[in-house]
Amino acid sequence: MHTPHNRAQLGGKLSAVLVAAGSSVGLGNIWRFPYVAGDNGGGAFLLVYVLCVAVLGLPLLLAEFSVGRAAKRNAVGAYRSLDRRWSGVGYNGVVAAVLIMGFYFVVAGWTAGYMVRALTGELARCASADDYRTLFERFVGDPWRPLLYTALFVLATHFVIARGVQKGIERSARLLMPLLFGALIVLAVRSLLLPGAAEGMRFFLRPDFAKITPSTILVALGQAFFSLSIGIGTMVTYASYFRPEADLRRTALHVTLLDTLVALLAGAMIFPAVFSAGIEPSAGPSLVFITLPSIFNGMTLGPVWSALFFLLLVLAALTSTISLHEVVTAYLHEERRLARRTAARITTGATLALATAASLSLGPLREWTLAGLSLFDSLDFATANILMPAGGFFTCLFVGWRLDRHIFRAELTNDGRLPGRIVPLLRFLLRYLCPAVVLAVFLDNLGLF
Ligand code: PHE
Repeated sequence: MHTPHNRAQLGGKLSAVLVAAGSSVGLGNIWRFPYVAGDNGGGAFLLVYVLCVAVLGLPLLLAEFSVGRAAKRNAVGAYRSLDRRWSGVGYNGVVAAVLIMGFYFVVAGWTAGYMVRALTGELARCASADDYRTLFERFVGDPWRPLLYTALFVLATHFVIARGVQKGIERSARLLMPLLFGALIVLAVRSLLLPGAAEGMRFFLRPDFAKITPSTILVALGQAFFSLSIGIGTMVTYASYFRPEADLRRTALHVTLLDTLVALLAGAMIFPAVFSAGIEPSAGPSLVFITLPSIFNGMTLGPVWSALFFLLLVLAALTSTISLHEVVTAYLHEERRLARRTAARITTGATLALATAASLSLGPLREWTLAGLSLFDSLDFATANILMPAGGFFTCLFVGWRLDRHIFRAELTNDGRLPGRIVPLLRFLLRYLCPAVVLAVFLDNLGLF
């Protein structure tokens, strides 16, 4: 297969894990996971989620890594070069990446806004959960302020992308992970010591099987894909920059474990505090923004801690927005033959327009709804519950049935240098089990069973 030269490649040994974990770990773990878990029954959701990550997420991550590193191209180009008829899987990814950025940048902007409010002491002035709810609603509903932060976030992402893959992406991921872990552990411990914490942990960990419905399963599946950044070609794009020596199996395992651990820590941080402060676990996208400040409130040096934590969230979100932006930029650059700089500018412009509309859809344009959902909620719903599962489904079929099995084996074993015992099991999962499960969950939600 012809491989384009002059493509960037990631450096040291740790880099593959670092950049892939940088993409996976983000607002999906700390903002989205607690809110969808809270909205879908807590413990029952967690169980289904973990199953989805293990049975569907890990094999798919390996499938995307293999496609990306074998083809050494952007998401569309990768599928196209392996089999032209499958380039639709790549296009689905590029479209999904744009739509995800449309709402992700808005939430990323909120975290930046909250960081500033922590620094100015504004967060510390509220006393009750109700105050925090009002503060959130006022902030989000404001026509200008959230937009400003969102725009700043888009520009920060643009800046990193414009500096290129190696320097920008790799460096920003290197420092962040350990810091984020440390902060999450401190906060989870703090939250577990609050009065009433046990009830929160019970809600989060004890499954009530009566609460598992077709929609719980689809939401858990979508959250697993969202959190691992799979089903939209992000990992295809990133793996195209991996070195030939990178061990895809270990990388995928480490990324999956790290990502799940961060989500569990986020749950252990949020739910005790939710119950302790009398907040509704089903509060939706506002949940974390109402809960987090109340954890910091009673702490010594609360404002410092909260500013620091929101800063870490900003950085975690940034390593994810970079990976989303890169999917689109790499596509425009390599397939549409635009200069990388122009490709990045077009992506930034389109994203900014969509994110502006999504941000306004929670404030001045609240009346404009699609099937009862704001633009913000529709983007979130359509990507996680439709486009990502669909992308995952076709990726399974492609790698399971179409991709030359020698290519798959060569990628997973680095041309026979690593043991290949798991290859047959993986192929079995990708050929039969994973697509069947995703399809069944879909049909079940349409009420076809
Ligand atoms: N996985 C990221 C997060 O958890 C979000 C993301 C989704 C990034 C899809 C890239 C692709 O925040």
